[in-house]
Amino acid sequence: MILRRHSFLLFFILFLFTQSPLLAWGAVGHKTIAFIAQDRLTPEAWTEVHRLLGPSQDLVSVCTWADMIAHTRSETAPWHYIQVNVREEQNSYDLSDICRDHQCVVDQIERDEEILKDRWAPPSAKREALKFLVHFVGDVHQPLHCAEDNDRGGNEKWFRYYGSQKNPNRYTWVNLHSFWDNLLEPHAKENPRKLAAQLEQNLTEDQINTWQGGMPKDWAYESFRIARDNIYSELPAGPLLEKNRWGQDLPDDYYTDQMRKIVYERLLKAGLRLAYLLNQIFQDQ
Ligand code: ADE
Ligand code: ZN
Ligand code: ZN
Repeated sequence: MILRRHSFLLFFILFLFTQSPLLAWGAVGHKTIAFIAQDRLTPEAWTEVHRLLGPSQDLVSVCTWADMIAHTRSETAPWHYIQVNVREEQNSYDLSDICRDHQCVVDQIERDEEILKDRWAPPSAKREALKFLVHFVGDVHQPLHCAEDNDRGGNEKWFRYYGSQKNPNRYTWVNLHSFWDNLLEPHAKENPRKLAAQLEQNLTEDQINTWQGGMPKDWAYESFRIARDNIYSELPAGPLLEKNRWGQDLPDDYYTDQMRKIVYERLLKAGLRLAYLLNQIFQDQ
């Protein structure tokens, strides 16, 4: 009994230390999105980006800033996600009710847009809004940032996974959320500049026209549906804190076979939409 209580305590402490619920796509994902967007910025948008950020900065260099300050500026923490329950009936109009006190990724994207469009907003506020916007357009395209199953977007669902990059010959414990955030990270060969170029190569005019545009709540709803239909549908409901209560592991080919196509499309859409948004905002400034 004592042993069990101790191992529970140990697990609980470990659990606290391994939580990083704020990180969205890891750096590879966010940078890929920023590169795709940059490839499509108009000269007017570039001028504004450099005026706000300085000549040596760009979308890529600021795209992970919001994650770095989330711990010290706790009011920004809820801006990285929206919790839409995957076991309940939803439509995209419900999302505004779900965004509690307007403190979620959907409403925050709109607030940052407003600041950037406001002729009278001080440059320091605009600089910050731009850095937030680049990051949050990325976050809202990460399916698990727009979903929850009583598990904080997968942060409380633990699995075993065989053959991670760090430990290729044994099982490691992963939680679903950070596993998804970092799906791209171990594939070091997919450096973000190259990955962006590769994804853009296969882009058709049709895709560009149908994908770019839309409203943040539509993007969040797309993410939610992917989370519900492709990620959560196979998994047991609720938290899986007691490790391996499910009794099954995430399959070895989870990324390579099952999720890679989805991830690539989310990155492309995020990049296209970010560029479209910035080009519009800065078109007559
Ligand atoms: N952090 C990142 N995504 C989240 C989510 N969907 N719910 C709670 N915390 C999160
Ligand atoms: Zn995340
Ligand atoms: Zn984030």
